[in-house]
This record gives sequence, structure tokens and C-alpha cells, in this order.
Amino acid sequence: MLFDFLVPQRILFGPGCTGRLGEEASRFGKKLLLVTGRRSLLASGMIDRILAPLRTAKLEVIIFNEIAPEPTLEVVEACRERARSEQVDLIIGVGGGSVLDVAKAAAGLYYEEGSIRDYFNGRPVEKPGLPWIAVPTTAGSGAEATRNAVLTDKEAGRKRSIRSDFWLAKVAIVDPVLTMTMPRELTAVTGMDALTHALEAFTSRWTHPITEALSLEAAVLICRNLYSAYKKGTKEVREKMALASLMGGIALNNARLGAVHGLAHAIGFRYQLPHGLVCGILLPYVIAYNMTIVEEKYARVARKLELVPPGTPSPEAARKLLHFIQVMKMRLNIPGKLGEVGLKKEDIPALVEESLDSGSLAANPRTAGYSDLAGILETNL
Ligand SMILES: [Fe+2]
Repeated sequence: MLFDFLVPQRILFGPGCTGRLGEEASRFGKKLLLVTGRRSLLASGMIDRILAPLRTAKLEVIIFNEIAPEPTLEVVEACRERARSEQVDLIIGVGGGSVLDVAKAAAGLYYEEGSIRDYFNGRPVEKPGLPWIAVPTTAGSGAEATRNAVLTDKEAGRKRSIRSDFWLAKVAIVDPVLTMTMPRELTAVTGMDALTHALEAFTSRWTHPITEALSLEAAVLICRNLYSAYKKGTKEVREKMALASLMGGIALNNARLGAVHGLAHAIGFRYQLPHGLVCGILLPYVIAYNMTIVEEKYARVARKLELVPPGTPSPEAARKLLHFIQVMKMRLNIPGKLGEVGLKKEDIPALVEESLDSGSLAANPRTAGYSDLAGILETNL
């Protein structure tokens, strides 16, 4: 057995752990760029939970909040420029996956000479960047634990990842209190993204015992708590979802993903759909496609969830898991098919072409070529 295992240098987890942001940030300098979304933090009143510990630690804070969902290369360029012109010592990203990815890429490319587009187009990242701290406010992307940033090149019409082993956060501060104000729809789609991370990492070709343990536990936590987070969102279930998202992020960072993520970028970009929504819609279709190869693994999840009595044969247990996820998707009000949110038959060839070179697709346990992916999308019309 051979494997690598990479995690953020330090992970703080638990309600209120944002209170330690100041002491953590102080380890890296005196002046920082706080990267956050346009509305979420201010609107939810959570900004004080972030600013108070930074003030107590007497840190100079520059705010960059020009980030909308599905961030572009230009936004990362502007963020890096701001960090450079202010000569900050570190970057803190506070937000959902999009915000964390901008903070990560701007910090990661701080000392690199090329444009952001150069690295998006494949120029290798050669230098370590500025230290950065990840503070997620959704339970879904796992971006606090990954070394890649998903960005969009609007000119070229492409969405893909830039990645580097240098890009792991120095500190990930996962405080479930910050996820308490997530609206229902966001809870549903970010939760389905996290479930997809867990199940794709669990069944990936590159899975190994450590990622397997993390992703199995994450999948079980999400299956048990996502609907409750959506309906009531108590502290207890938010905490379990935040933990599951973090574990799924660590697992995907080391085991990669699968065909759902292989297809999701092209579809999300073409129809301007939230990433988690695309993943949530596609997940059961890809589970059905992969069933012949990883039935035993799906059965393990079903048994751990006690969806079937002990001794139930694997084919039946695996089918139970698929059914459970289809029902959960319906209860979360996620559309059954991509056709309901814009997928058109005539777009399928281009969408498949755009997805074929995806690293996620290469990790899918069952080989999926052109006709297989086209088949998955045709059943979604
Ligand atoms: Fe994802």
C-alpha cells in the first residue's frame, strides 16, 4: 500500500472556536487581509465574531469583500493585488467555498510572477505563498481542508481547479456557530455537496484506509443529520454537519472524487447553477452507474446507517442506500433531474467533451467514457 496524506497544519473545531482567531493569526504577523463575501457576514451579524478577536489581538485588518459565488480569475487577481499593495502578512478567508477558494488562490500565488490566468492554464506553482487561515461559514465545500481552488475563466468559458501542495491552510477554524444562519436552500445544496464528497471519496480509485475511515463517517453523519439541519438547524445538528464537511474535505483532498464532480463544473458553468445543486441532482444517477463496481461499499454505508437488518446481502443493502438518498433529495426539495434546471439535449455532447479530462472523473471507480457520461445526462432530461 502506498499513499500520501495531507492536512492543514492545524485544525480548530467546535462552537466558539472563532474566538481563537486572533491568537492564531498573530503567529503569522501584524497585518492581514480579511477576504469575505459581499453580503453573508454583514447580513448575518457574524462579522463581530470575526473582528472582535482580531481587535483584541491588535491586528491591522484590511477587508476585501468583492466576491460573488463562482469566483472568476479577475476576482483572484484583484484580491492578490490588494494583498500585495497593502503588504499584508497573511490572508484570512471567511465564507463558503467560493470565498475560501479566492483567499487560498490569492495567498497561494502571492509570490508568483505570472498572471492568475497563467496558472489556470497549467503553469506550475513553484513557490510557497502567504500563510492563510480558513474559516468556513457553510457546511459543504470542505475547502478549508483542500489544496485546490475552483475558478471560472469567463472569457474562455471554462471552470476548473488550480492546485498546489503549498496551498493547504496553516489553520482551519471550523466553528459550527457560523453556519447557524444558513438559509434552508443553502443548507440543502451545501449538504448534498458534502455528501457527494464523502461518497465519491469513499468509492474513489485512490481511496486508502485513512480517507476511507473519514469518508464513511462523514457520509453517515450527513445521512443522519442533513434533513434535520434543513428543517430545524439546531446547534447539535449544525455541529455534526460541520464536522462531516471537514472530514469529507480531508478525504477528497487525499482520495479525489468521481463522476459527479467530473460533470459538475461544465454543467454549473453553462447553466449558472450552484455547485451543490448540480451535485445533489446527479449523485443518485452516478451511484446507480457505479453500482456494479462498488456495490459492496455502498452496502457498507447502508449497514452502518442501519438501513437494513444485519446479514442483508450486499445488492439489497446497496439499493437501500440509493433509495434513501433519492428520498432525502426529494425531502430537501432538490429537483429530480437536470432537465428541470436547464439541461438541454443538444448541449450534452459539448458538456461531455468539456468533462472528459477532469481529474475527478479519472478517480471514478467505474471507467466512464463519452457514451457513459452522455447516457447519465440523457436520463436527466
Ligand atoms: Fe463539491
